[in-house]
Amino acid sequence: MRKTLTSLLALCLAGTIMADEGMWLPSLISQRIDDMHEKGFHLSAEDIYSINQASLKDAVMLFGGGCTGEVVSSKGLVFTNHHCGYSQIQRHSSVEHDYLKDGFWAMSMEEELPNPGLTVSFLEYMDDVTDRVLSGYSEGMSETQRDSVVAANSKKLIEDATAPGKGLKAEVDALYYGNQYFIFVFREFRDVRLVGAPPSSIGKFGGDTDNWMWPRHTGDFSIFRIYADADNNPADYSSDNIPYTPKRYFKVSAKGVHEGDFTFVYGFPGSTREYVTSDQVRFIGEVSDPNGIRLRTKRLDIQKKYMSGDQAVRIMYSSKNASVSNAWKKWQGEVKGIKRMNTVSRKQEYEAEFTRWAAGTRYEGVIDSLHRYYSELEPYQTAAGYYRESVLTTELLRYSTGIVKALSKDDADTSAILASNYKDYCLPIDRECFVEMVSEFGKNVPAEFLPEHFRSEYAAHGHDAAAWADDLYTTSAFSSESAVKAAIAEGKNLKEDAAYKLMDALTTFYNTGIYPHLNRINGHITLLYRDYMRGQMEFSPEKTFYPDANLTLRVAYGHVSGYHPADGVYYKHQSTIEGIMQKDNPEIFDYNIPQGLRDLYATKDYGRWADENGTVPVCFAATNHTTGGNSGSPVINADGELIGLNFDRVWEGTMSDIVYDPQVCRNICLDVRYLLFIIDKLARDTRLLDEMDIVR
Ligand code: ARG
Ligand code: ASP
Repeated sequence: MRKTLTSLLALCLAGTIMADEGMWLPSLISQRIDDMHEKGFHLSAEDIYSINQASLKDAVMLFGGGCTGEVVSSKGLVFTNHHCGYSQIQRHSSVEHDYLKDGFWAMSMEEELPNPGLTVSFLEYMDDVTDRVLSGYSEGMSETQRDSVVAANSKKLIEDATAPGKGLKAEVDALYYGNQYFIFVFREFRDVRLVGAPPSSIGKFGGDTDNWMWPRHTGDFSIFRIYADADNNPADYSSDNIPYTPKRYFKVSAKGVHEGDFTFVYGFPGSTREYVTSDQVRFIGEVSDPNGIRLRTKRLDIQKKYMSGDQAVRIMYSSKNASVSNAWKKWQGEVKGIKRMNTVSRKQEYEAEFTRWAAGTRYEGVIDSLHRYYSELEPYQTAAGYYRESVLTTELLRYSTGIVKALSKDDADTSAILASNYKDYCLPIDRECFVEMVSEFGKNVPAEFLPEHFRSEYAAHGHDAAAWADDLYTTSAFSSESAVKAAIAEGKNLKEDAAYKLMDALTTFYNTGIYPHLNRINGHITLLYRDYMRGQMEFSPEKTFYPDANLTLRVAYGHVSGYHPADGVYYKHQSTIEGIMQKDNPEIFDYNIPQGLRDLYATKDYGRWADENGTVPVCFAATNHTTGGNSGSPVINADGELIGLNFDRVWEGTMSDIVYDPQVCRNICLDVRYLLFIIDKLARDTRLLDEMDIVR
């Protein structure tokens, strides 16, 4: 079984691809290197990934569990996106020191700010461990038996790789729905300090209006530094720690980019679903995305109303608001893209051909079975989506169970737990959201998926969510930090609180009445996909396959490129400071740039950072296949030098997690020259420039 797959994989990988689609495993990049060379890359596969010598992978890190970062100096200096460092910047901000609004620049290492809890991880090595993970498994076993074989073998592999004292962490991940397994071994650093961040009016320029859009003018970067102990090993924060000396760091290229230039993105894409059937694509495009969009629109409207009227609320909810709005907007582009590409009917045609071909093979019936299980899954998937996007987003409810759980621990620090929960809480926002979310939930979720407690309480309040909110938000001990404290002091049983009881009923129902069904049906579906995946490889040997993203390190290569978003329109590959000035508007929060930037523009004080046309480049677009998690990823030129930071995709191409369209799928990169210009001319933090290796 293993052999067939390996040879199939080799066969598929050998096929040439026309487009720049694909997220490739670095340890197997030798299979793509000829194509990369043909497209203009100058370095070798060993330069990208090696376990024998320092390679580019040693300069790339998983940043904070959901983004990518890169090392850019011998003193552990790190670049990532502004939106990746956002919660750290926010955490250090107050109305008096508003680093979100004004930016933050440490002018010396002493001023760099620690961030307990923030970690970065470098990949030490990765290995195909399929044989070892499946050792003891034989084809006749049940899926449950297979799962326990996989779990036991993986556990052993992880233990061996991370023996005490090595300072390593490891995970075993399934690729191609469990047709292949890889171990990934990381070194995790725990002392990561904030070095610099531009004001949000640069780092988040254009805000949610420009988010997911091109042409873009966002200076989406923030700067950190990794600290290590005296032996250069990971350590908890200590003032004795010293800057980390990396195995490898990126040279920063100020040479600039041109349309057609080779480029590759090296990072940690989070999740894609490129091989799902038409049923699931239809569900995403017609059910789950539209439901999510509708529910989030309501929450965003409420947040916006309060944020625009109150500076403190704006700071408190800025990070929450950005994350709610991000997927909300992406889903809208995704729905359009799926439709425009006729993905559902194209997949249906493909599935019909596959089914004809599969007759008499071991793949016979796979598509039909998937179809049946998806029909069974849909009601549960829809209800689960409602839970997640409506009632379970209510902060009061989430705090209630979260706090009770945290307080039940032996060494619980009550003040710290409460402070962290209520630091960014605005009750009026949450209460209005509760009203909207409960109404939607009660109206749209079939009675069989509503917990009895929810139904009786809702009925007791006359099916009037506002009346219920009036009751709950005035009587619950979880409505404020002081109320919880008082309740604890009075010895009240927090589990009797109405908010706690409601949340408990909702989660219990979800965990017992929905999740087990989802889990069971998805188990069948995954199993079928394992077959379908192999079947597709046999059926379409000319097609190139790459494993879906799963937050493991990948290489995506392509070229700098503009695109046609619509008939008669061409978007160029590069944006410049001219566009910032065209959008600049002191009246609009998201477009109100710092006066310092206006002054630099007026005097054309661009220093070394102007391009050949005498202006400052800001962002560029390219054809690298990226997704969430690739934010902050190094964008690298043919010589392995840093030319940009990946941070987004264009609106017309956001369906690339499901279907990639070479015509319009573009990733958006911050041009590193804009970053250098801001550090140099606006922040005047030239010590940072001095420690980088800037090439021209
Ligand atoms: N769309 C980008 C990504 O998915 C950037 C998000 C942050 N920016 C924002 N305006 N919300 O992460
Ligand atoms: N903005 C995304 C991120 O944060 C990148 C993307 O989805 O293209 O990872």
